Amino acid sequence: MDKIQEIKDRLKNLKSLPTLPPIVSRLNEMVEDEDVTAVSLGKVIEKDQVLTSKLLRMVNSSFFGFPQRISTVSNAIVLLGFNVIKTLIVTSSIFDVMQSSDIGLWEHSLGCAAFSGIMAARRNIKNPEEVSTASLIHDIGKVVIRSEFPEYYAKIVEDVERRGVFMREAEEEVLGVQHGEIGGWLADEWNLPERLSIPIRFHHYPEKAGEFVEIASIIHISDIVIRAWGYGFGGDKWVPPLSHAAWEQIKFGKAEGREIMEELDLRLSELKNFTMEF
Ligand SMILES: [Fe+2]
Ligand SMILES: [Fe+2]
Repeated sequence: MDKIQEIKDRLKNLKSLPTLPPIVSRLNEMVEDEDVTAVSLGKVIEKDQVLTSKLLRMVNSSFFGFPQRISTVSNAIVLLGFNVIKTLIVTSSIFDVMQSSDIGLWEHSLGCAAFSGIMAARRNIKNPEEVSTASLIHDIGKVVIRSEFPEYYAKIVEDVERRGVFMREAEEEVLGVQHGEIGGWLADEWNLPERLSIPIRFHHYPEKAGEFVEIASIIHISDIVIRAWGYGFGGDKWVPPLSHAAWEQIKFGKAEGREIMEELDLRLSELKNFTMEF
């Protein structure tokens, strides 16, 4: 069996990563129903207290940057949309893994989510919170490689260390597939909308993201800027080059750049020490 197929098969039966909480399929069924409301969805989620407190912690954190406090799940669904809430539920157990095994990547992800939200709002992209959420999970493929394929992961890290190649290049050589693509498979597996899955898949190749090129470009720029800022750890020794195509999509001048950086600075200092643990 070829390696890519083997990796795909193993991803379908993730062992060390907790599987989807049963509540997800229930919620998916519910949203098919036209009569369902944010309140009724919220009620179902709120039956799970641990999940609810995690969700509320996430939605009130400064990477979304809502000025008012969101106190119920239904409220969160109204303000952020069901896609965001579903993504946070689906991935919450992976965040637990990330926080305990790779705090640098967790911080990198939070920083990217904050920055992507700022840029999405400024470029008037609808549902900027969806863009933040896609950005929060853009490197989820890395988490999965580390937890599911430790033998390959060790080899990848060794290559990065020893030969100074970028992580995605080492992944390509060792696995035959990069973390962006793996993240895209997972997002498809979880039935996340293409607005999230395609930018995740192409965050290192934003020009390939078709109609979602703006969102992919925002995530790409966040990934680079957050590393250059020195916030968290994205996994590479060096900051990768910025895609010219992405910059052309989103670019900002000096004055706006300064405003954006001030906003980012504020958000990042609020995010410092944010965890989902209590
Ligand atoms: Fe990445
Ligand atoms: Fe990244």
